This record gives sequence, structure tokens and C-alpha cells, in this order.
Amino acid sequence: MAGLIPQDFIDDLIARADIIEVVGRRVQLKKAGREFKACCPFHDEKTPSFTVSPGKGFYHCFGCGAHGTAIGFLMEFDHMSFVEAIESLAGSMGVDVPRSESDKPARRYDELFSLLDSVARHWQACLKECPAAIEYVKKRGIDGSTAKRYGIGYAPDGWSNVLDKFGKSPEAIERLLATGLIIRKDNGQHYDRFRDRIMFPIRDARGRTIAFGGRTMGDGEPKYLNSPETVLFHKGRELYGLYEARQALRHIDQLVVVEGYMDTVALARHGIDFAVATLGTATTSDHLNRLFRLTENVCFAFDGDRAGRKAAWRALENALPQIREGRQIRFMFLPDGHDPDSYVNEFGTDAFLKALDEGVALSQFLIDELASQVDMTTVDGRARLAELARPLVHMIPLGVYRELLIDSLAEAVGLTAAKLEKMLGSETPGKKRGRAPAGAPRSTGPKSMSGQPSVVRHAITILLNHPQAGLKADIEMLASVSRKGTDLLQSLIETVQSEPNITTAGLLERFRHDEQGRHLGKLAANEMPLDDDFDAGAELADCLDQLALAGRKERIDFLIEKQRHSGLSDEEKTELRQLH
Ligand code: UTP
Ligand code: MN
Repeated sequence: MAGLIPQDFIDDLIARADIIEVVGRRVQLKKAGREFKACCPFHDEKTPSFTVSPGKGFYHCFGCGAHGTAIGFLMEFDHMSFVEAIESLAGSMGVDVPRSESDKPARRYDELFSLLDSVARHWQACLKECPAAIEYVKKRGIDGSTAKRYGIGYAPDGWSNVLDKFGKSPEAIERLLATGLIIRKDNGQHYDRFRDRIMFPIRDARGRTIAFGGRTMGDGEPKYLNSPETVLFHKGRELYGLYEARQALRHIDQLVVVEGYMDTVALARHGIDFAVATLGTATTSDHLNRLFRLTENVCFAFDGDRAGRKAAWRALENALPQIREGRQIRFMFLPDGHDPDSYVNEFGTDAFLKALDEGVALSQFLIDELASQVDMTTVDGRARLAELARPLVHMIPLGVYRELLIDSLAEAVGLTAAKLEKMLGSETPGKKRGRAPAGAPRSTGPKSMSGQPSVVRHAITILLNHPQAGLKADIEMLASVSRKGTDLLQSLIETVQSEPNITTAGLLERFRHDEQGRHLGKLAANEMPLDDDFDAGAELADCLDQLALAGRKERIDFLIEKQRHSGLSDEEKTELRQLH
């Protein structure tokens, strides 16, 4: 891994490296137009199909598909590791490889991390000295060792405990503000955010405290107070308990997603070390990506009441675009009036594990939930179910899972899969006729079912070939689009915008360790028009427009469909009005 070598050094190195020289020193190259050709060093051939493009800083073999940057070439050809390749390249260019200890922003972040860590430890010590807080924690069923594992503490009452202890200089006060531990009043004075609360440190993947959640011991409002969004803390991304789960388990078979801090801690207390909590927000795709990096098996736990089912449905909606082959998403429901914390405390570990076992697969939950909204005994009702399922099915990436879901739906509504697929095919009834017949391979060919994935691909191809096209791109537009690949597109654009001089090769190297990034090489090899009046920026903007429009239409259809059947929440009504 890039590890300690600063990313901007790597970017710069790749931008300046001459791939023709690197490859040419090892393989006999011949100029052919703007590019160079050779017989491929990675497979046996008589006619040269190995092409090196100095403009893109990239090689590609049309025979065997090998491709990469100067660094990739060194790794393949000279069998070097990533770091060795960097060092070799830097060596040949006469520069030293810096290590990130000298990196200034990193040091600034370090100061914030160490402040949060000190405060967490201080609050842990305070807990030991406050009988009322100890009693509360005990009353909630938490024992000493669990409290210690999760770093649970107590922030004493008072307006300036943290401020006085940790804010002794103007710089220290700035750090307290930056981490959200104190609040600045209009008159410029400061006060502690957390007072008289049981404190739960929220840790990142490496175990560093990045924020806190604090619970009142009485009925004060709010029940839980969380750190605000800071440079270190993004609520929609973090999962409470993930670090602790990874510490406790050698291998993570599954992860259970619960709603609250206390749920995670109570389950851990009962030996169930694989529960993580979203922090008072619905599960986002960032959450899901993070979870699926650690395990293929994710189960959402919800209360059995109406609110719980609603929250579960929400999680389902957000999970659909993340479905991939091999990933398993399930839902478990607890009896009315129980959350995992109360359930495990009352009925014990085995009962919880049994309820977990009885969780239903996402497809099952989806069908059950829709079936409960229609009259399944009539043909009309079953047709409605298919209608209701349509926008949801379209949120699932093309592939085996989508096929399987369509099969199950077909069975539920009593149609053949082919017939149902035909119904589901069009986004709105009557429009867009003449699709590929059901059964034909749909994931191949340039246009897939709704055309969008190829727009994403096209956008990514433009960006790889002309990185600077992304400089003015409006990423906000992608926010509502939940297509496969849009998150990758978004991070590519963000990378370009934070690193305006990045080259094709630089981009590829940035994504070397990314799961999705592996496919980028192929796209970078795609030829783009080279004539001068090709406006890559405009072309990219056009793609983003198309995606945003499609995303909006999809969401509108979905909301309208939902309105007709189960009604909309106030939030959703406002959203629909705004979309129109
Ligand atoms: P719940 O209200 O379900 O609380 O909120 P809980 O987890 O059961 O807590 P206990 O058992 O009463 O202590 C679930 C989660 O929603 C967020 C917190 O992350 C909480 O754990 N929340 C809730 C807030 O952020 N603020 C609140 O005021 C309430
Ligand atoms: Mn609870």
C-alpha cells in the first residue's frame, strides 16, 4: 500500500514520469503516430499489439489486455511491489521519496485525534468518580469490562470543565471548537457541549476517537446529544462499534446493524460482538459499502412496531443499489416494544441469536411488505404488486440478483418470469416500447435496460482520458443518482478537483487499491476523439445532466408510486414537491 508515502508525491511522480523511457528501457518500442508500439512483453505474439501512450502515461495490450501506468509496468515487468516501484521510479528521476511524518495537514489532524483521545480518557476517569453515573451504567446492564472496551465515560455537569482543562491557549480552544467539544456563543465566549451525560466515544476504523455521543441520565432533552459534523466526523459514514467488533473478532462472518449506542453495547455485553449502530440516521450507501468491505453478510435489526418496519423499509430502499452477487442482506424484527438492548437483557443471548436466524432475506421482506399493501387474492391486486415493485427493481444493478428477485416476484404474482420482466421493463407504462426480448442477455451490449450504466461508463471514460474535464463538473448533481458506478464517478471527479494537474496515469494509481478501480484500466484504454474541437468538459457535463435527470425521474416515479399505495411521510411530500 502507499502507506507512508504522501499521495501528492505519488501524483507528481507519475505526472512527471516518462512512460516511454520507462518501458523503452526494457522493451524495444517503435513510434506509430502519437503512440508507440511493440510486441507485448507479457504474452507471445508476432505482430505488435502492445501500445504505449505518452499522453495518457499508460500502456495497453490489445492482444492480452495487460495495461497500466509506469508504476504498474515496473510492478509487472520487474516484479516489484508498489512501494518498490515508486522508489525505483523516483530513483531513476533522481528524487528522494518523502515519508509523511513531515506532512503538515496530517500533523494537524494528529493533534485533533490526540485531543479527542485525552478527553475520552478524562471522561472515563470521571465516570469512576461519580456514583450516580456508575449506578446508571450498572442499571443499564453494562459491566465494567464492557464499559472499558467501549471507553464509556461521564461528562460531569458544568459549563466549562472541558474548556478549562483542555483549552488553555487560543490554539487549544480552536482545536476544541474544531472537534465540536465546545460551542462558541455570539459574544465570543465558549462553553462545553457535553454536560452531565454518559459519554460514548465514536471511533474510526483504526480505533481513534473522532466524536462522541452523550446520553442524559434522566429525561433531559435531547436524549442523545452527538458531536456535530467535523473534519474528522461524518455521521452518514461512521458506524458505532465497528472498530470494537473488528478488535473482538478474528473473522467477521456477519454484521448486525442496530439503531442505538445502547443496542451495540448491550449485545456486546452478551457476547454478540458483531453489532454496529448507525448514528441516528438512516443507513446510507457509504455505511453499506463500509460493511460489505468486511463481510458479505449484513442483517438489519429493527423493532417489530410500525416505526421499526418503516425504518426497515428505508434501509431496504438504500440497500437496493448496493446489491451485488454474493452479498446477503437480511432483516430481523423484534417483538413490539423491544429493541435489541431490551430484548437481549430480558431474554438472553440465545434468544437474540435465534431471532437473528429467523431474519428474512431482503427479497422476502420486499415481497411481503408490498403484498401487505394489495389484495393478493385478486388478479388486480397482484398486478398492483408488480407495479409497486417496478421502481424498486430498477434500483437493483443488473445481474443475477435482479433476475432472482424477478423470479420470486413472478412466483408471488403468478406470472411467468418472462411476462413479469416485460412488465417491469418499462419505467412508465406505455413508454419506451421495443426492448430486448426477455431472456436475451441484458447486461452485455452498449445499452443496458435503462441505458444509464453506459452513461456512467462514458462519463468515466471521458474523465480518464481528459481528467481536466472534471474540474468544472458539478458533482452535486450526482447526489440523487443511485446507479452502479456513480460513486466511483463521483470520487474520480472529487480527486480531479482536489488535484487539478492529475494525469490519466495519476488517476489510475489513486484507484489502484480500490475494489472498483480495477476496471478503470480498461476504460482508460478506450479511444476518445482526438480532434481539437472535442470538448470533453461539455461532454462530461452532458453525461452528468443525463444522469441527474434520470435519477430525478426515477425518484419521482418511485415517490408517486409510493404515494398511491402506502402514502408519503412529510419529508417525502416536500421532496416530491421540490422535485416537480
Ligand atoms: P432510541 O431513541 O431508539 O434510543 O434512539 P435507544 O438507542 O433505545 O437508547 P436508550 O436505550 O433509550 O438509551 C436510537 C439512536 O438514535 C440516536 C442515537 O444514536 C440513538 O442511539 N438518537 C436518539 C439521537 O441521536 N438523539 C436522540 O435524541 C435520540
Ligand atoms: Mn433502547
